[in-house]
This record gives sequence, structure tokens and C-alpha cells, in this order.
Amino acid sequence: MMKQMSFSDIYFKEHERYISETAVMNGKEYHSFISADYYSLNTHPAIKQAAIDAIQTYGTSLSVGQFSDRSPLIKQLEAQLCAVTNMAASCIFTSGYTANLGAISATSKIDNVFYLYDKLCHASIVSAIKSTNCGSEAFAHNDMEELATKLGTHQDKTIIVITEGLYSADGDFVDLPSIAALKERYKFLLYVDEAHSFVISNTQKNVAHIFDEVTAGSIDIISGSLSKALCSTGGFVVASTKMIDRIRMSREYIFSTGITPSNIAASVACLTLLSATDRHQKLAENIAYFRHKAKQNNIDLGMSNTISPIFTIFPNASCAELYQSLLDEGILVQPLLYPAVPKEHERLRVLINAAHETHQLDALINSVISKHHPHDNTEALELSE
Ligand SMILES: Cc1ncc(COP(=O)(O)O)c(C=O)c1O
Repeated sequence: MMKQMSFSDIYFKEHERYISETAVMNGKEYHSFISADYYSLNTHPAIKQAAIDAIQTYGTSLSVGQFSDRSPLIKQLEAQLCAVTNMAASCIFTSGYTANLGAISATSKIDNVFYLYDKLCHASIVSAIKSTNCGSEAFAHNDMEELATKLGTHQDKTIIVITEGLYSADGDFVDLPSIAALKERYKFLLYVDEAHSFVISNTQKNVAHIFDEVTAGSIDIISGSLSKALCSTGGFVVASTKMIDRIRMSREYIFSTGITPSNIAASVACLTLLSATDRHQKLAENIAYFRHKAKQNNIDLGMSNTISPIFTIFPNASCAELYQSLLDEGILVQPLLYPAVPKEHERLRVLINAAHETHQLDALINSVISKHHPHDNTEALELSE
């Protein structure tokens, strides 16, 4: 019987270098499945050079808020974000978390606004909605019938529906075709947090492009993080010019100095590189291989579906123990433990990157098979808020 592990045994571990398809802790190299740098570009020479060049020209800090300091780099990144989404305007925040806080607080000034949000939305969205003091209701995860009922009930209000593009804890995509169909029947604005789905559908696009039947115009506001596929740190919002002008007036935007020039330059270089090369192919192959092998071995991946690089594994015994025994075998995954999720929904989260090699994916599958017999977990799982 393993000793009870504490929070600090599991989290806040010290890494001795960057984390990609491998990680190093206490001098030992691990197969790593915890990085959301899906295209494995964090250490790409062109991206590092762009960051270094930005420091040479602009220094290490933005020094003053974006309100007064509009460097060409910021404008370039904003233009690239608009090009990916085919939207008119964008703005950069210090994190994906504050992007949601700023954008949602800005929309709360819209007359008679009412939020309907998916129950599994990220904590930043839930906190932002609660802090507005506006009316709101959550709908069950991806439950379009419940959403339709709530839309019907609240048609006297200005409704904003908020979802994630790719749900970060479970790895399933928003049912965008159904929401787009509802949008033809009911009036509402659609806000999608694309922290994990941005440029994941192919190297240059957002979640709307995953679904053939959905037009890019069905989403009104997109928020996201620069810290996942865009290998930097920071957040962004993309929308109409009028909406972005409104969002730029949020306290989170005005009263905060922006991210560093090197962080902006890294994302600019990343988007430039992604638009010029097909790194999507290798990522897609790794995702398909892992999904196939897991299925072949009856490993239940929960709600993770289609081209999602986020996978979940539900242990039939202690999640912390399974995490530790994988670690002992040189495999690093992310445990999602109580109180972040309800006790009965504790799980391991596996993030697949373009740089993973087949033997690493096999090693993870083989270790999981040898350590536990996964139980069936096809019922919808709901995170506690
Ligand atoms: C869906 C979602 N939204 C927002 C965020 C916050 O982004 P950031 O880490 O840039 O603050 C995250 C971070 O994990 C996320 O998964």
C-alpha cells in the first residue's frame, strides 16, 4: 500500500529545463504528456531567435500599458489573430484568464445582458460571470436541448452563450453545429474560449473550421491563451471592432501592463511558422495513433473525441497512485484530483504533442494497461464549479 500523497508530492514539482515531449526532474528524464505546446515549438530556433531579437529592440518589458504603448509587434500579433479567425479586431491580455475576465466584464455593460454557459467552462469564465452580478445560468455540458429550453425562456434578454472550443479538462469539442443551428432560431451572441482549440483544427484555423457545416461567422467573440499552441504566455480576444473597442475599456486591459515584447514576438513567430509549414500532420498522426491504440486496449478515454490532443484516463482505483506508478516508470502525466474535480471523477490528463515518438505513446499505453484495468466511464462527467 502506497503512503498517502500530499498536494506538494504531486504538484509544484521543479523541472530542470523546458517541458516538451520529455521533461527532466532530479536529473531523470521522463516521457512527458503535460505540455499544451501542441506543436512542440517552445524551443524552435526561429521562435527563440524572434524572442531574442524583440528583447534587443524593445527590451525586457513593455514598460507602459498597451493603452499608450502600441509597438508594431502587438499590432502584428493582433493582425495575425484576426487573419486566423477572419474577424475584424483583437486585443492582447496578460493571460487567457484575464482575457476572459476583461471580455466578460466588458460585455456585462450591455443592456439587459444574461449569460448562458456550459457547466464545464473554465474557472476564469465562471469567475468572470459571477463577478459581473448579471443574471446567468449554466447548462449541462454540451446539452443542446437544455440550452434551447433556456434560450426560449430568456428571449426577453440580451443573451450571451459561452462555451469552450475544446474542453480543457475532458478533451471534447463544443457541439458547434447545434449551437449554430440554435443561433438561427434564437437571438444570442456566441462567445467561445479557444484556449485549446485555437490553430488545432489545422495549422491556421479555429474551432469553426473543424465542422464543415459551420460558418466562421457564427462565433461573435473568441478568447484564448498564448500559452498553449502559440508557445508563449498571455491571452487574447478577437471580435468585431465595436466589441474590441468595448473590451479595451475593461479594467483588466486598461489597468494592466501587457505581456513582454519577447512573449509577443514568440507568438508572432509561431503563427508565421504554422502558416508556412504543415506541422499539423504529425500532431494529427500522433493523436490518431494514441486514440487507436487506447481503443484497441479497451482504455476508456472519457469524452475526448475526434482530433482532440487532450485525453483522459479514469483509474479504477486511486488516481494519485496510478500517477505515481507511471512516474516511477518514467512517464509524466497530469493528475486532475479532488478538489479540482469531484472525488469520483478524478482522472489523469494526457496531452499529445507533435514531437511525441511512437515508442513514447506505446510506453504510456503499456504502463496504463499493466497498472490498472480501466473501468467504463461513458456517462457524462461534470466538473464541480
Ligand atoms: C479553457 C481555458 N481558458 C483559459 C485558460 C487560462 O489561460 P492562461 O493560462 O493563459 O491564463 C486556460 C488555461 O489553462 C484554459 O484551459
